[in-house]
Amino acid sequence: MGVRKVETKAEYEKLCDEIWHHNRLYFQEAKPEISDGAFDALVTVLEETERDHPEWVSPTSPTQRVGEKPLEGFAEIVHKEPMLSLEKAFQVDELTAFYDRVCRLLDRNHLEFFGELKMDGLAISAIYQNGQLVQAVTRGDGHVGSDITQNVKTIKEVPLRISSDIELLEVRGEVFLPTKSFERMNAEREKEGLALWANPRNAAAGSLKLLDPRELAKREGLTCVFYGIAQQTPVKVHKQHQVFQFLHSLGLPTWISFKGLPLVPYRLVKSVDDMISFQDTIKSIRPSLPFAIDGVVFKLDSLDEASSIPPTIKHPRTAIAWKFGAEQVWTRLREITVQVGRTGVITPVAELEPVELAGSTISRATLHNEDEVHRKDIRPNDMVLIEKGGDVIPKVVASDHTTPNRAAPWHMPKECPACNTPLVKDEEEVAWRCPNRTGCPEQTIRSLAHFVGKDGLDIEHIGEKLIRALFENGLVKHPSDLFHLTKENLFTLEGIKEKSAENILSGLQAAKNPSLETLIMALGIRYVGTGTAKRLAEAAGTLDRLQEMSCVDFEGIEGIGHEVASAVHDAFHDSLFLAELTALLKAGVTPRPPEKREVIVGHPFAHASIVLTGTLSSMTRTEAAKRIEACGGSVTDTVSKKTSYVVVGESPGSKLEKARKLGVPVLDEAEFLKLLGNTS
Ligand code: IVH
Repeated sequence: MGVRKVETKAEYEKLCDEIWHHNRLYFQEAKPEISDGAFDALVTVLEETERDHPEWVSPTSPTQRVGEKPLEGFAEIVHKEPMLSLEKAFQVDELTAFYDRVCRLLDRNHLEFFGELKMDGLAISAIYQNGQLVQAVTRGDGHVGSDITQNVKTIKEVPLRISSDIELLEVRGEVFLPTKSFERMNAEREKEGLALWANPRNAAAGSLKLLDPRELAKREGLTCVFYGIAQQTPVKVHKQHQVFQFLHSLGLPTWISFKGLPLVPYRLVKSVDDMISFQDTIKSIRPSLPFAIDGVVFKLDSLDEASSIPPTIKHPRTAIAWKFGAEQVWTRLREITVQVGRTGVITPVAELEPVELAGSTISRATLHNEDEVHRKDIRPNDMVLIEKGGDVIPKVVASDHTTPNRAAPWHMPKECPACNTPLVKDEEEVAWRCPNRTGCPEQTIRSLAHFVGKDGLDIEHIGEKLIRALFENGLVKHPSDLFHLTKENLFTLEGIKEKSAENILSGLQAAKNPSLETLIMALGIRYVGTGTAKRLAEAAGTLDRLQEMSCVDFEGIEGIGHEVASAVHDAFHDSLFLAELTALLKAGVTPRPPEKREVIVGHPFAHASIVLTGTLSSMTRTEAAKRIEACGGSVTDTVSKKTSYVVVGESPGSKLEKARKLGVPVLDEAEFLKLLGNTS
């Protein structure tokens, strides 16, 4: 794409770090700094660099870690056939290169591909044995997913039995929330003052992750289409274009059974021109589709030929996703206001003339920080370009500097809009902050909202609107106050009647037993996102232990660096923080200790952190990882001083060198098997 050139390994590593940084901002903090388009462009540069310099590819590169971790609370299932991702194309020459490559691989001049919709939902795999639905699994990291059978059984379109003599059928598809249901769900949440889902995919993911299938059954609208076959015994289908008819004939949901589609959303294509024409058609009907899509997929129509070409570690070589760009629109920027976050960070917000974009009306968009406003020279009254990638908060991509009668450049106010405290800014940071941590009402409200919100205890029926009312009426100042609320207290608030008061109190009651990890997250310690909270909970086991641990202890935890360690240590030595923690415990909040992983006491791999490199001849990596975990050890990707062993198979990579350099013990396959012992 030629946006940026990466010439040296150091530049490559810097790019990896940059992408991880944006990844974290996007997924963990929901505070992206760059547009989806800009992010995709960085990833494309990275992929191109890795194609040109395979010797640089690092195991910690963002390209090597697609997908999510299995969900907490669900059993882990190893996929018999991995759930790979798709190679992406944004430009015609990338499609042409793909078409030519597959022709070359199969020694053919022309090939038939099947074009279909790229759904923006969650991939699932469903297994039918002798006609009976026996298991449904999320994609997880592609090799190990979560068992969500009970949840998938609540989706009424998914049959529990299919009428077929087929012994084993594993189908792949997508669970999603149609746009109408998404809007209905958000309208309900808004009424209750709960945080809104940013997009249908998050809403569907949030619903599928519900541990209690009865709760899920109450959420209407989640549905599913199947588009692929991963295993079939005996083999019944040889062409991708027959997959839908076949699955449909078995009573499985496919696009054929989906009502309200403006036209048949798939087509057999024979050339790159056909591919382009298909994507044009789909793009033109995209706004009228009853669900979200983010592109189209082209799959080699002959399944037999497709299976004759082995996939790369990430994706099949015979399919490609053509991604639609983010949708954009121009509108007027009415004014720039500022918002105070829970940690005091001040974010400028664009107040826009309402405009329709990707199916919803947009009137606000984030401007991230003052530097960003200046870099893009965005001024009140400008015409601005708004972008909504498949999701999240809309962003201001650019402003029209030729707008007549432009206003003066915008500046951050000098004082906090909520408490009038002069704002401060650290040299190295881009953000201005309100330093009044304990006295700023907005910070308190935001912290309370975080505590009850999706990243905190996720308390049902309590959202930011209610938190604001509780705070403004002097009923709640600290999280622990919530647990002392009575019906009478709640009745003093406008619009709260018997039923809603009962709902709120039962929501609080139900939230009193969070996992330790969830409680740590809810407490809102600086730099602590879900991953860190999990590591802290697993390493410490109890709140008492967290208080005893030193900075060095925290740094000793895999994945926790100095800055995070000292933030956690500071928090657990801060008198106000500890007082609130004690108040929470006294109010009946009892964290559940992390589930003990089985450990074989005295086994050399118990509590060991192990890195695998090269190919083992006796088992796959996934099996090796499972067996190590069964002994109580864990498998990580990077060799560090904290690594206990590096296990080396055939043609090892640079990890072996690194292990030698750091003096980490190295095991060859025979030694590894010996230590593993008879544990399978
Ligand atoms: S085929 C390797 N077909 O895209 C084959 N995937 O990037 C992958 N997706 O995890 C599955 N629509 O969630 C396939 N028509 C479609 C799809 C589709 C959406 C998603 C799926 C997968 C991801 C791969």
